[in-house]
Amino acid sequence: MTALTLKPAGTATLRADAVVVAVAKGDKGPVLAAGAEAVDKAFGGKLATVLDTLGASGGEGEITRLPAPDGLKASFVVAVGLGALPEKDDTYGTETLRRAAGTVARSLAGTDKAAFALPIEAAEDIEAIAEGALLGAYAFTAYQEKGNGGKAPLGEILLLGAKPRDKAHKAAAERAIAVAEEINRARDLVNTPPNDLDPEAFAAVATAAGKEHGIKVQVLDEKALLKGGYGGILGVGAGSQSPPRLVKLSYTSSKAKKSLALVGKGITYDSGGISLKPAGHNETMKCDMAGAAAVFATVVAAARLGLEVNVTGWLALAENMPSGSATRPGDVLRMYSGKTVEVLNTDAEGRLVLADAIARASEEKPDAIVDVATLTGAMMVALGGKTFGVMANDDAFRAAIHSIAEEVGEPSWPMPLPADLRAGMDSSTADIKNIGDRMGGGLVAGLFLKEFVGEGITWAHLDIAGPAFNEGGASGYTPKGGTGASVRTLVKLAERTAAGDLG
Ligand code: BES
Ligand code: MN
Ligand code: ZN
Repeated sequence: MTALTLKPAGTATLRADAVVVAVAKGDKGPVLAAGAEAVDKAFGGKLATVLDTLGASGGEGEITRLPAPDGLKASFVVAVGLGALPEKDDTYGTETLRRAAGTVARSLAGTDKAAFALPIEAAEDIEAIAEGALLGAYAFTAYQEKGNGGKAPLGEILLLGAKPRDKAHKAAAERAIAVAEEINRARDLVNTPPNDLDPEAFAAVATAAGKEHGIKVQVLDEKALLKGGYGGILGVGAGSQSPPRLVKLSYTSSKAKKSLALVGKGITYDSGGISLKPAGHNETMKCDMAGAAAVFATVVAAARLGLEVNVTGWLALAENMPSGSATRPGDVLRMYSGKTVEVLNTDAEGRLVLADAIARASEEKPDAIVDVATLTGAMMVALGGKTFGVMANDDAFRAAIHSIAEEVGEPSWPMPLPADLRAGMDSSTADIKNIGDRMGGGLVAGLFLKEFVGEGITWAHLDIAGPAFNEGGASGYTPKGGTGASVRTLVKLAERTAAGDLG
């Protein structure tokens, strides 16, 4: 993992391989952002002109490398584009800074040490830059000797312009490091191929992390699941050689007044089961445990940050495979809650494992439950590949999550749970079917889950099928593959819950 330290401003002569400055897009060419003063001085005050001559515009995500002049100890300078100049108060938004830091950190793969001289007005800017840089420097190299284009991720970041002894600055950097490292952990889990990450292996990773961070971890194996009556989780895992698990992670704070339960869909591979997915739809389905990875990462981050709230993570882990022992379309499962479900499409498996975990989580009467899942292709049709859908049984809670997501730079959109779609799940054999109307399929899945939420408990459902896995190219601080989507939202939600701002 890339290291990050805070340094005061005006030390652009620090020993580093590269110095990073930012440049915005002005009417008459690139405009240097605050933080670049010392570097500009070394260029005789002509850095903007030099960049202009090189064809740089300051457009968002633009990277320009130039040799460092005498007077700088670094061997080269990198200018990263921020896009349009800020409108009013001369400050760039935190998401602009986060993205720029991510883009430039990505471009610095193969470099040992870089000093970032970016515009910093407040502690939140430090946090955004640190977060973006650490997320952008991420690379998944476990299976390639010369992964990442043969280049090691950027080794070390010096964040200039901070006050290393200022409590707020220090806290901002520490928070960014904890959150980014946990997001990167979630990305690693998502990227790990399904032959190496089955439910048992995922549970082992959670157990080890729990030990390290003082989180209590309980694992229900297939025998315990049978004894407990977890028909949904067992039904989904029935076709696999790798049996399912339900993992409970309990982070508790002695100062907690509120409790939050997070439930993650952890399908370590989704073949569709007997309702097998066609070729072209299977290849990325190692990502189907991204919800569980996000929940796991959030609980660990909460522990590392010592948040004053109790956070319980539930990882519903199973592999969805076809075989002679697999659940058939037509089978009826008796769920943990006691409800019966007629499984008419074994590819609608996420809602089955989540239903059991949500019902179990409800027994502990948390102040709120949030489930996170790569649940439906329909949500991707609705919102595209970058935005997650937010559904809830409480309008204020849904709005709060949407606005928290916006604050942390994660695109999301509130979605309804129209009551009329419930009828499509009526079954003549069981209490409910696991599929309903094709139209509004993402909302149908949400309505299914709602049935398993305990009476009177505030609940929200995040369908992260789009943003969890990036099939396109890397951009900003988002790499190809696993993204760690929703972790920043969930950590902020836990913080707000701790502060008593919710419910
Ligand atoms: N894991 C998939 C949803 C998914 C699709 C996630 C694409 C990420 C990318 C889920 O288990 C699934 O197969 N859903 C079905 C539900 C349908 C059978 C009602 C779907 O969306 O087609
Ligand atoms: Mn499926
Ligand atoms: Zn799935």
